[in-house]
Amino acid sequence: MKKINIAASGYLFDSIDELSDVDKHLMKEAVEATKKSYSPYSNFKVGAALLMEDDSVIIGNNQENAAYPSGMCAERVAIWKAGSNFPNKKVKKLAIAAISTNKTVDKPVGPCGACRQTLLEYEINQEEPIEVLFMGEIGKVVKAESVTSLLPFSFDSSYL
Ligand code: THU
Repeated sequence: MKKINIAASGYLFDSIDELSDVDKHLMKEAVEATKKSYSPYSNFKVGAALLMEDDSVIIGNNQENAAYPSGMCAERVAIWKAGSNFPNKKVKKLAIAAISTNKTVDKPVGPCGACRQTLLEYEINQEEPIEVLFMGEIGKVVKAESVTSLLPFSFDSSYL
C-alpha cells in the first residue's frame, strides 16, 4: 500500500484586475449574467460565461424552482446551451461569478461537483482543455487550467 496524492490545482489571483484582458472581459460577462439569474429562493445569483473557439460568448445563470431540486446551476445552463446549439464548437474558457443579497460573497465560488462532472464530458469530447475561472462578488479569483484539474478521480466513459 502506498499513499497517492491526486489533487485539484489552479492559480490564485488577488483580484479581477490581475487577470489578462481576455479573462477580465469574460469574468465581467459572468458578473453581468448574475443579474439575470432566477434565484428567488436562495438569493444567491450565479453567472457563467463561456468563451467559444470563435470568440463568441455564451452565458448562463442559475434557474431555481419552487420544487428546489428542479432548479439548475449557472454552469450547466451555460454548457447545455452551448452543447445544444453549437455541438461542434469548442469551448475555450468558462468564467463564473456569484453575488448574494444575503451577504457579500468574498470567496471564489467554484463549480459544484455535478457541474464539474458535466463540464468534464464536454472537455473530454472536444479533446482540448476548458480553462475555468471563478470568483465571488469581490476578492480573489481562481483560474484552473482545465476541468480535469478540478476533478480528481473523475468518472468518464472509459469505465463503461
Ligand atoms: N449554484 C450554481 O449556480 N452553481 C454552483 O456551482 C453552485 C450553486 C446555484 C444553485 C442554486 O440556485 C444557488 O446557487 C444556491 O445553491
